Amino acid sequence: MNPSSHHAPILKVGIVGLGRLGRRHAENLMSRVAGATLVAACSPLQSELEWARDTLQVPHLYEDYAALLAHDGLDAVFLVTPTSLHPQQIIQALQAGKHVFCEKPLSLDLEDCRRVEAEAARHPQLQVMIGFVRRFDASYQDAYKKIQQGAIGSPFMVYSQTCDQYDPDGFFVKFAATSGGIFLDCSVHDIDLARWLLGNPQPVRVYASGTRAIHQDLQQFQDVDNGVAICEFDNGKLATFYASRTMAHGHDTMTEITGTAGRLTVGSNPRKNRLEIADAHGVRNECVPSFFERFEDAFLTEITSFVEAIRLRRKLELTLADATEATRIGIALRESLLSKQPVLL
Ligand code: NAI
Repeated sequence: MNPSSHHAPILKVGIVGLGRLGRRHAENLMSRVAGATLVAACSPLQSELEWARDTLQVPHLYEDYAALLAHDGLDAVFLVTPTSLHPQQIIQALQAGKHVFCEKPLSLDLEDCRRVEAEAARHPQLQVMIGFVRRFDASYQDAYKKIQQGAIGSPFMVYSQTCDQYDPDGFFVKFAATSGGIFLDCSVHDIDLARWLLGNPQPVRVYASGTRAIHQDLQQFQDVDNGVAICEFDNGKLATFYASRTMAHGHDTMTEITGTAGRLTVGSNPRKNRLEIADAHGVRNECVPSFFERFEDAFLTEITSFVEAIRLRRKLELTLADATEATRIGIALRESLLSKQPVLL
């Protein structure tokens, strides 16, 4: 914790959504983030509220979001709800005078992104951050710093992938109707990284393609389980993206940044830890199973950065405009996938 934040009051937080990721954020907020405490939780599901009460002893539980917002003394909300709910829930929180952390993506709809930005502009004293967690990973931060220091000359190309382990249950398939498809759900992280690492260039044209390697049932949502894309920016900068739901070995997220004087690579070996196994199959590492194990520390750093920004009244580097731009590019990728044509931005 920053020493000057010792005197700022402890931030009282309410969490909304206690699903796959919401539970992780709730655990962090309850016991691992200095300067914040989890005072309330909201979910429409009784079983999730019971979990919050029994596992974390969250003192105040709400089935209704408006009731949580009315909780006396609440400073900030964490929205870890289905993406389709994000814009309206952010706007409601701002109107109730709360700081907002909301999971990515901001929205699947550009008009909604702009409505959120307009509402946030009416409350300049409130912080709003969208959870692009990779920016808070130590290796990505190191890469960013080295690029700023000129370590690879002028960066002109990013390759970035988000590849999930194959899930034989096809659990994610039922979310495909609301997730916006593979590019808005997964590549949105890579899009944000590419913009950040290349110095926020303007996108000018995208082209995307994809295939259903395993999950044929994605056809009903016009989605793919493996997608690739190229994004051209102005000034000759380029990004290429790959997203997959079908990796055999585990969660394999990596990024490569090429510059005029060198190349940086983050995460090229997605090993679980430093253990190397040598046996009749050869010499190998095990792989991280999911995004959570890979970014566990980053999730904590992300929350801590948000909480400190509020307590120290510091401006957040990651803005709503960044989140809108990631959605804008993600929508263009989806359009290109469906039309099989390049899309101009
Ligand atoms: P989930 O479906 O497991 O959880 C959604 C939660 O929202 C559930 O607890 C559900 O009860 C609750 N909910 C639904 N309707 C609600 C309402 N009207 N009011 C309050 N709560 C409501 O989904 P998951 O995987 O946890 O994803 C949530 C968000 O987190 C999504 O936007 C997703 O894109 C994002 N996410 C981000 C990741 C990252 O790497 N940063 C990784 C995984 C998810």
